[in-house]
Amino acid sequence: MEINNICCIGAGYVGGPTMAVIAQKCPEIKVTVVDINEKRIADWNDEDVENIPIYEPGLSEIVAEARDRNLFFSTDVDAAIDKADMIFISVNTPTKTYGIGKGMAADLKYIELCARQIARVSTSDKIVVEKSTLPVRTAEALKNILDNTGNGVNYQILSNPEFLAEGTAVADLMNPDRVLIGGDIETDNGQEAVQALVDVYAHWVPKDQILTTNVWSSELSKLTANAFLAQRVSSINAMSELCEKTGADVNEVAKAVGMDSRIGSKFLQSSVGFGGSCFQKDILNLVYIAKSFGLEEVADYWEQVIIMNDHQKRRFAANIVKTLYNTVSGKKIAILGWAFKKDTNDTRESAAIYVVDYLLNEQAEVVVYDPKVKPEQIYADLDYLNTRSEKENRDRVTVLNTPYEACEEAHAVAVLTEWDEFKDYNWSKIYDDMLKPAFLFDGRRLLDGKKKKEMGFEYYAIGS
Ligand code: UDX
Ligand code: ADP
Repeated sequence: MEINNICCIGAGYVGGPTMAVIAQKCPEIKVTVVDINEKRIADWNDEDVENIPIYEPGLSEIVAEARDRNLFFSTDVDAAIDKADMIFISVNTPTKTYGIGKGMAADLKYIELCARQIARVSTSDKIVVEKSTLPVRTAEALKNILDNTGNGVNYQILSNPEFLAEGTAVADLMNPDRVLIGGDIETDNGQEAVQALVDVYAHWVPKDQILTTNVWSSELSKLTANAFLAQRVSSINAMSELCEKTGADVNEVAKAVGMDSRIGSKFLQSSVGFGGSCFQKDILNLVYIAKSFGLEEVADYWEQVIIMNDHQKRRFAANIVKTLYNTVSGKKIAILGWAFKKDTNDTRESAAIYVVDYLLNEQAEVVVYDPKVKPEQIYADLDYLNTRSEKENRDRVTVLNTPYEACEEAHAVAVLTEWDEFKDYNWSKIYDDMLKPAFLFDGRRLLDGKKKKEMGFEYYAIGS
C-alpha cells in the first residue's frame, strides 16, 4: 500500500517537527498538519520562518524548504482527514485534572474527539497512527469508536510512539536510535498497514532500526522508556543530596558510575529536577495503570521517582531561603532560565515554576530572564498553579529581556535552565551589580564554581 497523503492532527511539539521531517524526507508525499488553534496554524504559516511557534534548532530551515511544497498547515481538519491515506494523531494527552484518576490518569478526551471526527468525515479506508503518548490499550478504544461510529470504511490502528527529546528534536528525528511501530501483526491487513508506515520511515531510517511489534508492546515501551530515563535522573538527584551532606561531589560520582558500560553515562546529570511534558505524565500513567490492575508494589516503585523529583525542587528552593539567613521576604531573587531544559521554549512542568512558586510564598520579589520564553508564558505557568491571584503574580514577578538587568541589585541569582549562553556572561559585572554577599545558586551545575568563588560569589551547586 502506497501512502500519498498524510494528515497530522495537532501542530504541537510532536506533530510539527515530526511532520516537517517526514515532508522533507519524503517529497512525493503530501503532508498536511491541522490544528483547531488558529493562532498556532497562523504562526506555522508565518512568512518569516523564524516566527514558527516552536523553537527547535534546525527546524525553521526544514520548514522553509518543505512548506508549500509538500508540507501544509491548516485549520481545515475535516478536509485534511478526508483526503488522507494515513492520519497521525498528535494531540495533547494531559494528566486529568478532574474526576476518576485525577492527577494521574491521562485525559483522553482530545483523542476521543479526534476519533469521532475521523469517523464522521472519512469516506475512504484509513490508517490511523497514535503518535501522542497514550496509556496502554488506547488503540482498542480508538478502534471501537471508529468501527462503531464510522461510515463503514476500514481502519487500521498503529501505535508509533515518538521518542524525540525537545531541544534536539530535529537531530533525533533525522537519526533516531529506533523507530517503533505497533500494529495488528496477526492479520494481513494489519501487516500491510505496518509496512506502509515502515516504508515512510525507510526513506531515511535504516531498516534494522525500525522495530515492529504488537500494539500493546509499542504503547507500553514508550511509557517504559520515559520511566527508565526519569528514574536515572531521580536516582542521581537522590545521590546529590547525600553528596551535599558527606562531601562527595555528584559529578565525580556520576562520572565514576557512568563509566561502567553496564550503566552508561547518559541521563546522570544532577539537576534541580526534571521537567517537560512527558516524564511526570508518563510515570503517573504507569502508576495509574499498575494500580488499576491491583499492582500496588509496582505502582509505589514508580511513584517514588516523582516523589524524589518533587523533593529535589522543594529542597533547592528551601536552601535558597535558609542560606539567605532564613528569609527572602522583600528580597530580589533573579532567576536565569524558565524553560524545562535548554534549546526549547517549552516550559511544561519546568522546575523553575515550582521553585519560584515556593519563593513567592516566602514573599520574595522575583525577576526572571529566559532567552526564549515569553513573559506571558511565565505568568500563565504561575497562574495555572492557582497559588495566588493573577494580579499578585504580575506584581511580584518581573520578566526582563536582559540578564544583566535581571541580576542588578539582586540578593541572589539562581540558574534553573542549562542555557549555554549563561556560561559566557560577564559574571564579574553581574557580581559588581549585585547586593553583597552575592549568592549564586546553580541548579544545573552549569557554571565554573571555582572561578565564581574567586570572583567573590557565595556559590552553591546541587550535589556538592
Ligand atoms: C523526554 C524523552 O527523553 C523523550 O525520548 C520522549 O520522547 C519525551 O520525553 P524531553 O522531555 O523532551 O524528552 O527531554 P529530556 O532531555 O528527556 O529531559 C527531561 C528533563 O530531565 C529535563 O528537565 C532535563 O533537564 C532533565 N534531565 C535530563 C536532567 O535533569 N538530567 C539529565 O541527566 C537528563
Ligand atoms: P505535544 O507536545 O504532545 O505535541 P501540544 O500541546 O504541543 O502537545 O500540541 C497538541 C496540539 O493538538 C495543540 O496545538 C492542540 O490545539 C491540538 N489539538 C487538540 N485537540 C485537537 C483536535 N480535536 N483537533 C485538532 N487539533 C487538536
